[in-house]
Amino acid sequence: MGLLKVCDLDVAPPSGSLKEFKVGNLEILVSNIDGKFFCTSARCPHAGGAPLSEGTLIGTVLTCPWHEAQFRVTDGLLLRGPATENLRVYENIVRENQIFIEAE
Ligand code: FES
Repeated sequence: MGLLKVCDLDVAPPSGSLKEFKVGNLEILVSNIDGKFFCTSARCPHAGGAPLSEGTLIGTVLTCPWHEAQFRVTDGLLLRGPATENLRVYENIVRENQIFIEAE
């Protein structure tokens, strides 16, 4: 298993915010919660797959911009429908001022 680079830390989202990155053929959402980074799918698992970087992050709760499903970005847990699946989470590490996710 290898590591895939998501971004350099200097372009990572500031605390309390979200940003989407293309990583190979993956669309990865990076959330910064009090300086700790969490990586999830950047597409909502509900119909259509809204771009979650356009959603709202309050604390650890991400609200989808289209139909307002809610997910906990720290572990992807679905908190509120209409989505019916958790948000996919990618374990990440920070090394040498870069964020990486584990490749499959
Ligand atoms: S696309 Fe996210 S709740 Fe519908």
